[in-house]
Amino acid sequence: MSLRLRCADAARTARVGEYLAQVRPGDAALRVLYLRGDLGAGKTTFAAGFLRGLGVTGPVRSPSYALMEIHPAGDLTALHIDLYRLHSPEETETLGLRDWARPGCIWLIEWPERGAGHLPPPDLLLDFKAGEAAHEIALQAGTQAPYVSASHTERAAQEWLDRLADLPP
Ligand SMILES: Nc1ncnc2c1ncn2[C@@H]1O[C@H](COP(=O)(O)OP(=O)(O)OP(=O)(O)O)[C@@H](O)[C@H]1O
Ligand SMILES: [Mg+2]
Repeated sequence: MSLRLRCADAARTARVGEYLAQVRPGDAALRVLYLRGDLGAGKTTFAAGFLRGLGVTGPVRSPSYALMEIHPAGDLTALHIDLYRLHSPEETETLGLRDWARPGCIWLIEWPERGAGHLPPPDLLLDFKAGEAAHEIALQAGTQAPYVSASHTERAAQEWLDRLADLPP
C-alpha cells in the first residue's frame, strides 16, 4: 500500500523527511531508503530534512560529486548516497558501501536505479515528483513482493510508514 503526500513547498518536503526520521523504528537494524525521481524532484531536500531529524547538525551538502557523504548522528551513522554520476551499476562496488551494511546505519540513496543489483533492498521506497502546483512524494514499504510472507523488517517498515498518518498538516 502506498501513501501519497503533497508538498506545497520545499520546507514541507524537508519536514516530511524530518518527521520520518523522528518516528523511525526503535531497533538498530540497517535501514535503507530509496529516493527516486527526476532531477529537482526533491530528493536532496527530503534527505536534508531526514538528516536533521536524526540530529545531524551543520550543512548537508548534496553528495553528487563525492557520491557519498557520511553523517554521524548519535549512536547512528547516516549515509547519504547519490548515484547519479555512476557510470555503471558495478561501480557501486568501489564506494565501500559494504562496510556500512550493518546495524546502526541508515542509508538514503538518490538514483538507486543506477546501482541496480549492487544495493541492499529498500525498507522504504520513495518516489518524488514535481507537479505544476506542488511536489508529491509516494511512499511504500519494502519491495512488496506479494508471494513472500512479510518478514520482520518489512513489517517494521510498514509500521514506520503508518506513523506518517500522524504528521501534523
Ligand atoms: N515542494 C517542494 N519540494 C521539494 N523541492 C521543492 C518544492 N518546491 C520547490 N522545490 C525546489 O525544487 C528543488 C528540489 O531540488 P533537490 O535538490 O531537492 O532535488 P533532487 O531530487 O535531489 O534533484 P537531483 O536529482 O538533481 O539530485 C529545490 O530547488 C527546491 O527548493
Ligand atoms: Mg539530489
